[in-house]
Amino acid sequence: MSSHQFKNPLANWVEKRLPVLSPLHHTLFEHPFPRNLNFMWNFGSLAGFCLVIMIVTGIVLAMQYTPNTAEAFGSVERIMRDVNSGWLMRYLHMNGASFFFIVVYIHMFRGLYYGSYKAPRELLWIIGVVILLLMMATGFLGYTLPWGQMSFWGATVITNLFSAIPGVGDAIVTWLWGGFSVDNPTLNRFFVLHFLLPFVILGVVILHILALHTSVSNNPLGIDIKGPQDTISFHPYFTIKDTLGVCVFLLILSAFVFFLPNDMGHPDNYIPADPLVTPAHIVPE
Ligand code: HEM
Repeated sequence: MSSHQFKNPLANWVEKRLPVLSPLHHTLFEHPFPRNLNFMWNFGSLAGFCLVIMIVTGIVLAMQYTPNTAEAFGSVERIMRDVNSGWLMRYLHMNGASFFFIVVYIHMFRGLYYGSYKAPRELLWIIGVVILLLMMATGFLGYTLPWGQMSFWGATVITNLFSAIPGVGDAIVTWLWGGFSVDNPTLNRFFVLHFLLPFVILGVVILHILALHTSVSNNPLGIDIKGPQDTISFHPYFTIKDTLGVCVFLLILSAFVFFLPNDMGHPDNYIPADPLVTPAHIVPE
């Protein structure tokens, strides 16, 4: 990619010393995007938007949260009641997590339906699978943090799955816990990892976009993109279309955050974790 000559002298000055503006200019104005993309192609940028919401609200929550078994539950209740807009940050983070998965599932379903996983996009798809696994790990770790009954028993059940590995299973579980049960060291490391992983996801998403831009996007008719007659630039066509998608998404997210904030959660997670009491509906298979 050649370096772009900008009208703004400051942009040229920066570009000569740190070549980050040309790739951005290339993506926005020069990279060809099929002109027939439908709304199913909104979900990639929407997933990116979700990731930003999760990181921003997560950082604000982390400023008030205490990763200690004696105080975690209380610190979350304090965020809900005493911290300015704490309830909003927490409900955005909780419901945002559920919607992040819904958005990514639709994004994947689009890829399956239109065959976007096939050549030349195999590695793009594989990177997507890595993102999905990292998201699942992050979601699981985050669910432990409020230290309610579902947090504690969820962490216990899922970590215990590793004990099924022959020979080394029990040793792995002890290692994961940092002790002989889910306890303070477990909560502390889960918090550290829950803070770290979203930034790893961000890095892998950048690889995802790099892989995407090695070729032209797939398109709903599966036609071969032959030349400029089949393509348009990202700006202004997809910036406006993606903005509409973000607005519709924010309306739906707001409906949950403001009117049904706990509908996608479980009431038992408002009971403080108790290692001696299993939640009523946790029963053997
Ligand atoms: C944080 C999660 C993710 C983000 C932010 C993200 C972002 C994006 C963006 C911005 C695009 C281009 C726009 C579009 O085609 O919608 C894209 C394309 C694509 N993504 Fe993702 N993605 C994520 C997860 C995934 C996952 C989990 C998979 C599959 C396992 C996946 C597979 C693909 C494929 C195959 C394409 C190419 C589609 C085409 O060229 O038509 N992505 N992604």
